[in-house]
Amino acid sequence: MHAQAKPVQMNDAPTSNRKLLAWVEEIAALTKPDRIYWCDGSDAEYQQLCAELVAAGTFKKLNEKLRPNSYLALSDPTDVARVEDRTFICAEKEEDAGPTNNWMAPAEMKGTLNKLFDGCMRGRTMYVVPFSMGPLGSHIAHIGVELSDSPYVAVNMKLMTRMGSKVLDVLGPDGVFVPALHSVGAPLTAGQQDVAWPCNRDHKYIVHFPETREIWSYGSGYGGNALLGKKCFALRIASVMGKAEGWLAEHMLILGVKTPQGKKHYVTAAFPSACGKTNFAMLIPPESFKQQGWEVTTVGDDIAWIKPGADGKMYAINPEAGFFGVAPGTSYETNPNCMESIKANTIFTNVALTVDGDVWWEGMSKVPPARLTDWQGKDWTPDCGRLAAHANSRFTVSATRCPSLDPQWDNPAGVPISAMIFGGRRSSTVPLVTEANNWNEGVYMAATLGSETTAAITGQVGVVRRDPFAMIAFCGYNMADYFDHWINVGTKVGNAAPKLYCVNWFRKNDQGKFVWPGFGDNMRVLKWIIERIEGKVPALQTALGNIPDYKDLDWSGANFSEDTFKAITSVNHSQWQQELKLHDELLTKLEYHLPAALKARYVALQATLAA
Ligand code: GTP
Ligand code: SPV
Ligand code: MN
Repeated sequence: MHAQAKPVQMNDAPTSNRKLLAWVEEIAALTKPDRIYWCDGSDAEYQQLCAELVAAGTFKKLNEKLRPNSYLALSDPTDVARVEDRTFICAEKEEDAGPTNNWMAPAEMKGTLNKLFDGCMRGRTMYVVPFSMGPLGSHIAHIGVELSDSPYVAVNMKLMTRMGSKVLDVLGPDGVFVPALHSVGAPLTAGQQDVAWPCNRDHKYIVHFPETREIWSYGSGYGGNALLGKKCFALRIASVMGKAEGWLAEHMLILGVKTPQGKKHYVTAAFPSACGKTNFAMLIPPESFKQQGWEVTTVGDDIAWIKPGADGKMYAINPEAGFFGVAPGTSYETNPNCMESIKANTIFTNVALTVDGDVWWEGMSKVPPARLTDWQGKDWTPDCGRLAAHANSRFTVSATRCPSLDPQWDNPAGVPISAMIFGGRRSSTVPLVTEANNWNEGVYMAATLGSETTAAITGQVGVVRRDPFAMIAFCGYNMADYFDHWINVGTKVGNAAPKLYCVNWFRKNDQGKFVWPGFGDNMRVLKWIIERIEGKVPALQTALGNIPDYKDLDWSGANFSEDTFKAITSVNHSQWQQELKLHDELLTKLEYHLPAALKARYVALQATLAA
């Protein structure tokens, strides 16, 4: 075990970066790990760490024939999703965290954390994980270093980011990085046997210090709580950096669309957690669209960093290098590109294990296997009344495994954005697609987005909440200031700004069934959006914005009636008057810094809907 881990000593550290060396030394003194190990990011190291995780019982190696080079981890049943109620933005002033974030004064929080972190890595190895969010050396990219006592985190970071020695090379002796400290919060006393999924059931803290751009995470080993490059850095800290520097850090997928004329467009889309980003990013157009020459490619599935370029257009990069995607519902019918991506070289967390050593989850096949081991390691049969896979079970895989990966995905300059889409999970009220008349109306649409909560966060599932820009849990500063930043970026970009849209794939009928087929059929809406951008199709005007007429969507290969289409695209004024009350609640909550343009749009909408 720990063949390559070194006892605590700094003289052989693979960097001369003074700040990094001093920080590692300081944190080692506080957390008191048995060993420090500097990750080099090599494949050999990945294999070694995976072997150690198997030996420790955290990983089970899957059947090499059925799922080559892949592993299954089952978490502690209390550590299965992001913990939004334990997530803090510790700005000096409460007002700078704003009314949508949990806040505590930085000094007070540091006091609490220093106590928790004191000796918290005893009996464990501290992994030093240098990573780049974005292509190495890109002017849009930034470097972070995660110190973690979880080897599970180290191997996930290898798949999710550009990680290891090459990052230290770019960092050099005086480069800057975001320090991201992580502990599962489960020190071991001498001789104490470890558990398969160490975590702290009583104390969890996911903490951000926006002024000093630091991250401290304690007590959880799961997903966004622990892989600190993702939500903590690439969204919460990066949104603060973007506000200061004139760019955007967003909870958005990025996809490429090639038209039959050979014109390439890039589109971003912000949907809340578990609301379809991975699926939309890997969309395969219906057969008839493929024959016309439409192609969709994947740049990213969760996060976009977007900067105005020298030519005035907005350019986006995917700061990540892998996917941490929702397993349930993923199948060869819903998302073949994803199924191909995770055929091998994948880490699965909290899915079910088949008798022959492969994985399964709800929705993977119509007929479930007769017997499984469920995500809690218990025997499972189809009639047992429990889920086989946790509703927030996930796969981790490198982006390079994705068959639809866009040739420009790793371009340090980013890709130019033609349209930005916002969407939520709404069983009623919100139309299939709406086009904003202008940037500020689009910002209003995104700011007032609502969505039903999902299993990606702890707490109640299926309740409608406001999720502005799908960023309710990820904005590192005052949400009203964030709206203002969006308005300012749009003003600066002017005519070159992308067109803004709102979509809803999730309307249900009286029987509780989804009305819109979704998945590949979302291409019909995407095509309309692209043709709007190219000025090729008309639209109908409504109180909310522009919507397609039935005849202007391409229905080739489909059987979708005009009546049903009208039912999911029309704007019901009485429903929207109710919806506006929910807008009002949000805008009132954010009143203190709310941009006047949004208030004005609310007043105008209210008047139109009442007329
Ligand atoms: P995070 O990784 O949590 O940010 O989520 P995500 O937005 O990437 O979600 P993902 O694409 O993984 O989708 C989550 C769930 O929504 C899966 O169970 C999908 O099967 C389902 N889903 C995705 N697209 C559609 C769609 O067009 N229609 C319907 N009905 N369900 C969809
Ligand atoms: C989300 O919850 O939006 C995710 C998964 O993308 S996690 O990395 O856990 O945040
Ligand atoms: Mn996400």
